Amino acid sequence: MSRVSALRGLVLATPNLAAARAFYTGIWGLDEIEADGAASASCAFFRGRGPEPWVFGLERGEAARLLRVLLAVAGRKELDALHEALVRTGQRVQGPPALLPGPGGYHGFTVLDPDGRALELSTTEHAAPASPRGVPAPLRTSHVVLNSPQARPVVEWYVRHLGLQVSDRYENDGLIFLRCNRDHHCLGIGQGSNTRVNHQAFLLDDEAAVLAAGRAAVARGAQALWGPGRHGPGGNVFHYFRDPDDNVVEYTAELIQVPDDGSWQAKEWQRTPANANVWGTGGPSPQAIALMNGPAETP
Ligand SMILES: [Fe+2]
Repeated sequence: MSRVSALRGLVLATPNLAAARAFYTGIWGLDEIEADGAASASCAFFRGRGPEPWVFGLERGEAARLLRVLLAVAGRKELDALHEALVRTGQRVQGPPALLPGPGGYHGFTVLDPDGRALELSTTEHAAPASPRGVPAPLRTSHVVLNSPQARPVVEWYVRHLGLQVSDRYENDGLIFLRCNRDHHCLGIGQGSNTRVNHQAFLLDDEAAVLAAGRAAVARGAQALWGPGRHGPGGNVFHYFRDPDDNVVEYTAELIQVPDDGSWQAKEWQRTPANANVWGTGGPSPQAIALMNGPAETP
């Protein structure tokens, strides 16, 4: 059983906080939550329509890059046990569990994965109030895909130390899908030349909501990169867009729910346009691939 119960989301650095903030609220459909005046000049936190206190964060920085991945743990007992196990096995844990800065009342700690990414593992008893947004605004973060120069050992680390399970994989470790609950994947690790975020996906209610959200984003001036369509592995509907910092963001819905009776068999998929998009409306555009893969150097 996974020691991580869910993916909460990401915190990214942005060199242009005003433009990124305008995109995620005015076009993408998230709501910025209240922060004090001093904090809001240098960072911003956003919620979806679901109960998660916030699902995405931005901090002003010199370059667009990943700062941390936020993962949920079920409760304080589980959090302490996970911390103890990571320390005992010599993982790069940064301090004991404590109340974390920022909104949401999260209690947790940070560990670095084998690529050096900061993973913030946390629990909270807070829940967001009912959202003023209607469909098709995002409910929460669905999944994140990360590039890695060492995809297979990184996946093995997530399996061994955080208890994630492999749901499916593309050939040659092109993309390995990991789950921490019944959603087919909350995390994907793909073999690449850097450790950047490949893309980040936000969950909508269903296929109709993905289509409506995509139309609305285009009407508000967002640049679509690929879709709409439906993936083979994971079975989810997708529509990919570009944010002002060249991050790739996805609207998604209808991920396969993996039964918890042990009957699921992970399989290896060929990397074909037909598997990438079972609707037959085409594989990823060259521009989508270039932005997902990112530049060759490791930041
Ligand atoms: Fe995705």
